[in-house]
Amino acid sequence: MKTINNYVVKGKNVLVRVDLNVPVLNGIITEKSRIDTIKPTIEKLLNQKNKIFLLSHFGRPEGQFSKEYSLEFICSTLQEEFETNRIHFLESFNDSDIKNKIHKMDFGEICLFENIRFHPGEESNDSNFIQEICKSFDVFVNDAFSASHRNHASIVGAPQYLPSLAGESLLEEIKNIDSFVNEPKKPNVAIIGGSKISTKIDLLHNLTEFFDTIVIGGAMANTFLNAQNIDIGNSLCEKDLSTTALSIMEKADNLNCKIVLPLDVVCADNINDQSSIRRCDIKNILPNQMVLDVGNKTSKIIAEIILRARMVLWNGPLGAFEYKPFEQSSVEVANVIKNNAKILNITTLAGGGDTISAIKMAKAEEGFSYISKAGGAFLEWLEGKESPGVTALKENTYN
Ligand code: 3PG
Repeated sequence: MKTINNYVVKGKNVLVRVDLNVPVLNGIITEKSRIDTIKPTIEKLLNQKNKIFLLSHFGRPEGQFSKEYSLEFICSTLQEEFETNRIHFLESFNDSDIKNKIHKMDFGEICLFENIRFHPGEESNDSNFIQEICKSFDVFVNDAFSASHRNHASIVGAPQYLPSLAGESLLEEIKNIDSFVNEPKKPNVAIIGGSKISTKIDLLHNLTEFFDTIVIGGAMANTFLNAQNIDIGNSLCEKDLSTTALSIMEKADNLNCKIVLPLDVVCADNINDQSSIRRCDIKNILPNQMVLDVGNKTSKIIAEIILRARMVLWNGPLGAFEYKPFEQSSVEVANVIKNNAKILNITTLAGGGDTISAIKMAKAEEGFSYISKAGGAFLEWLEGKESPGVTALKENTYN
């Protein structure tokens, strides 16, 4: 695979796929790590006096313009983050508009394209659409590992038409996730949370083969509890996936992988109703309440498992961490890792947007060996699937 580190790109028109799909609340970016992560690549290209065009998606606007998903708001942040005179913005993906913009730009400047998912050609990987964009560029750089699991035009299409290089953050992601997967240290534990097992079935199946213990939290755990005939009241649950949950447990059992489910929980009538909060054993969940976090007893067990492990993988918060006090168990996991992982030489890998937010909430970033900025792409890589975007870079035949 050709990379930004073994090719000199100087004075060129460079198309760079980045992932600016950052979390935003009321127009404010709440977590900037996806911007921080592209800095080495962009700075290198700026220093070499290229004209840099950033291509990204934002949300899932389904092929149509929608103001809510416009990327224009992010220009001011890019201006603060990068040392360039000006951040340009281009709404159009039309060849003549791109050429016009290139003409107006100085070398060492950046132009951000509008959300590429406003165009239906992105998700359908329309070759005419991406070919039209590529016409004006000399080089394509993919620095969006977190979007590289998508078979989209800006990920797998562009390398068909341009000499293509892997960016630094994409390489960093692959190196760190691979070293975790390829050098297993035992005993190891995977802590998997989040709301749905439907998005993590393959992952869970795969993890049973490599991990001694899998801790399951978040609303996902409800599906497992429900499958074991535990009354989970009004909790979020994928009832149709009971058989899947049981088959994961059976596979784990056959492979000597221990599945740890909550023993106690924090419940409420609904997520905003602090007055109804109740802590109880999983056998005493009230019919009108929902499980919103794992309880203290379970958190302690998880902490003990972490402290005995030599490797910890974490994806997905254990509770509805955005709403106090349901962040407690996730913050505790982050803190146990922060306070002990380096001292005890425990290798720790975390990934996924919500997991990053929970780690930041606990100010525990430095405790982790590596934190992936990717969500779905991180999970698929852990499932052993090479991202199509990475395959496309490897297969790129231009020099
Ligand atoms: C992510 O947030 O995981 C990436 O930006 C990919 O977004 P997507 O799941 O909408 O393709």
